[in-house]
Amino acid sequence: MPCPTLARTAVAALALLACSAQAQTVLKIGYTPAKDSHYWVGATAFCAEVEKNTQNRFKCQQFPSSALGGEREQIEAVQLGTQDAVITSTGPVGNFVPEVKIVDIPFLFRDYAHARTVFDGPIGQDLLTKFPPKGLVALAWTENGFRHITNSRRPIHKPEDTRGLKVRTMENKVHMEGYRSFGMLPTPMAFPEVFTALQQGTVDGQENPIPVITSSKFAQVQKHLSLTGHVYSPALLLLSNAVWSKLSEADRKVFLEAAKVSVAAQRRKVDEDDANGVALLEKEGMQVVRNVDKTAFQEALKPAYAAYAKEFGADNIKKIQDVR
Ligand code: PAF
Repeated sequence: MPCPTLARTAVAALALLACSAQAQTVLKIGYTPAKDSHYWVGATAFCAEVEKNTQNRFKCQQFPSSALGGEREQIEAVQLGTQDAVITSTGPVGNFVPEVKIVDIPFLFRDYAHARTVFDGPIGQDLLTKFPPKGLVALAWTENGFRHITNSRRPIHKPEDTRGLKVRTMENKVHMEGYRSFGMLPTPMAFPEVFTALQQGTVDGQENPIPVITSSKFAQVQKHLSLTGHVYSPALLLLSNAVWSKLSEADRKVFLEAAKVSVAAQRRKVDEDDANGVALLEKEGMQVVRNVDKTAFQEALKPAYAAYAKEFGADNIKKIQDVR
């Protein structure tokens, strides 16, 4: 019998008593961005839904701000079952599930509507099925956002302006290949090290979506922001197989529904931060370039696209580009 929320009869009262005596499972969910970020909003929505719809048999303990390590470490922990869940960008995911790498191609997605349609549709949903054989359960595609470049040296309008800049990137070969063709010197680094590296000048810049730039306080250590939107950064809500394999069918449904609510909340927060964050960063002293020559960035990517076509298949890239 499912746990009742209200005891209107003696039987329900007994069931409620039995349920409240049941052990509560605490799920450890981690992510690298700070409390109050878009990832925190997504995690909070997921946890609230799971708690409510399992009558508190499950609750979450959240670990924001890289408290459990960088994204690669957290995915490994989820794979091992020493961490229950993670919200992660796709940055390191291709090292676990190679089929995912294609979605990290720069300028692959036109806008948020295009990206969300692809991930909610057959292409995105099929990619989720590639995770279980790797010991991971992908509950849903969620969102980090379109990435923009910040740096401490100069305003960036066109690819040549990035020439020779040491820019921290994710540990992601698809990104690095593209950024090299802009002229940058990509420097892969785990996110927990980024603020200090920017502060100490180990790197000149970094690239991330507005919600990350605001919640990580990068305005304190970076002067210039260019709205390059050079790549869409998807994210995933991953659960350990150790948790999933013990869930009843009914609880699995609850987790999957909770993931949907979480995705909607996280995307809303990305939209809000994109709408309000740039003005906030200007107030905090950043100089913002809005008139970026995106066509020139796309032109510069041509050699990288030839390599992507070889690696992923021109047809597969086109399939994603053609989604309306
Ligand atoms: O730059 C990154 O590593 C990612 O965008 C971040 C900030 C960890 C969010 O997934």
